[in-house]
Amino acid sequence: MTQDDAGAAVLRAWGAAAPDAVLLDGFHALKHALRFGARVGPAVTSDKAAALALAAELADDLTDVLRELLVEVPAQALRELVPRVHPTGVAALAARRDRQANLDAMAQLPRTSPVVVLDNPRNLGNVGAVIRLAAGFGATGVVTTGDLDPWHPNAVRSGAGLHYATAVERLPLEELPPGPLYVLDPEGEDIRSLAVPDDALIAFGSERHGISPELRARATRLVALPMRPQVSSYNLATSVAMTLFHWGGPAPA
Ligand SMILES: C[S@@+](CC[C@H](N)C(=O)[O-])C[C@H]1O[C@@H](n2cnc3c(N)ncnc32)[C@H](O)[C@@H]1O
Repeated sequence: MTQDDAGAAVLRAWGAAAPDAVLLDGFHALKHALRFGARVGPAVTSDKAAALALAAELADDLTDVLRELLVEVPAQALRELVPRVHPTGVAALAARRDRQANLDAMAQLPRTSPVVVLDNPRNLGNVGAVIRLAAGFGATGVVTTGDLDPWHPNAVRSGAGLHYATAVERLPLEELPPGPLYVLDPEGEDIRSLAVPDDALIAFGSERHGISPELRARATRLVALPMRPQVSSYNLATSVAMTLFHWGGPAPA
């Protein structure tokens, strides 16, 4: 097959897969998705030599895989597929992680690491940043409530494709996984006075309105992060980072 034929074929495959697929926007999203077992479909780049050079420098475990997978297409064709092309000029489509497997992973007790709950988050950048944190800390999963899709391309982009490294699902508040519910709120007890158990749900309120009355009513404990007077709150993702750090994180290698 000539390069033109391969380019045309990958663009047809993209068109067929796009409606149901997750957009992996950029080299890092594709790298993480591959490392954590995503089923990746069409993968394109406007500069294959540059993408392989990046792989050799940053992710040599994947250089051979990417040499096979990536198809070079003209820059204009890539711009038509992806509204805001990532500076690395790489994009791919993948299947979501299996929902039932995600729900089973979060329902299983005893858990060895917490599930993060974001109650009605409003900012997809925060959602992605939290998923990245959860993946790094080895959290069991991230549940969002409300109307935002945590698999939205902007969340996958800011999560650097780490949706495949932890269970990510949107659920109604009534269907949260089991486990003691530790709700983070500046009016709670100081987090330094308690331990966060491995099987906890650690829950955070929305950027605009904080924790909802429904979430507060379900709390096993209300927990505060230390903050000097006159500061009203921390950013959502940084609050998750502090709480996961206090929980403890993955065992040292
Ligand atoms: C940006 S804050 C919400 C601010 C919101 N305007 C409010 O009235 O609460 C987002 C979430 O981060 C968590 N958070 C922020 N600062 C915190 C603190 N000092 N202690 C505990 N949780 C905190 C809470 O879960 C909060 O709902």
